[in-house]
Amino acid sequence: MSGIELNKIAASILLSSLIIMLVGIIANILYKPTLQVSKRGYQITIAQENTGNKENLIATNQNEDINNIENIMANANADSGANIIKKCVSCHTFNKDGVHKIGPNLSQIFNAPKGKKDGFKYSKAMLTAGGKWDEKSLFKFLKNPRKYIPGTKMSFAGIRKANDIANIIAYLQKQNPNHSN
Ligand code: HEC
Repeated sequence: MSGIELNKIAASILLSSLIIMLVGIIANILYKPTLQVSKRGYQITIAQENTGNKENLIATNQNEDINNIENIMANANADSGANIIKKCVSCHTFNKDGVHKIGPNLSQIFNAPKGKKDGFKYSKAMLTAGGKWDEKSLFKFLKNPRKYIPGTKMSFAGIRKANDIANIIAYLQKQNPNHSN
């Protein structure tokens, strides 16, 4: 095969791929509706994601609150917290050396390890939860106790408003002498 013939073959391959490309481009232009159809399909997928169950949306909100915890805590007020803990006193005492009721005494619970109050019979879930009661863990627990510690025997639905939770946390921080605030 001579060099010229090889060149011809190369040229024709080039030419045909060019033609294929051109056809593709023209087809795209001619069939723009196809593009719109596929776009519409995409939007439907997004819509389906948004109609996902409420739980997910709540979880997302909760996560947003958690990511925002510093801002929420910046506006927290321990005195308001002292008022909101009325929701807790049927089961908890908060004073130093207070008795255990249905739930453990909560004096100096902020920054304390979970499930470690002497003389209280915790659920297995609480005993094995691990970690300390800091702002984030308290926030998640008080928002939805059974979601944060599945199997906890704290039968309390949780507190809806992020600010109310923050006020309680501020109250718990204030009665903990180890906390610098
Ligand atoms: C219906 C009774 C009840 C109410 C109301 C209740 N709790 Fe509890 N709480 C419990 C019980 C029971 C436990 C022990 C949970 C376990 O062992 O799983 C507990 C555990 C806790 C703990 C973990 C204590 C530790 O030693 O690790 C915290 C913190 C807590 N509660 C805060 C609160 C706050 C704040 C409120 C009010 C907003 C509240 N609870 C309302 C029953 C209650």
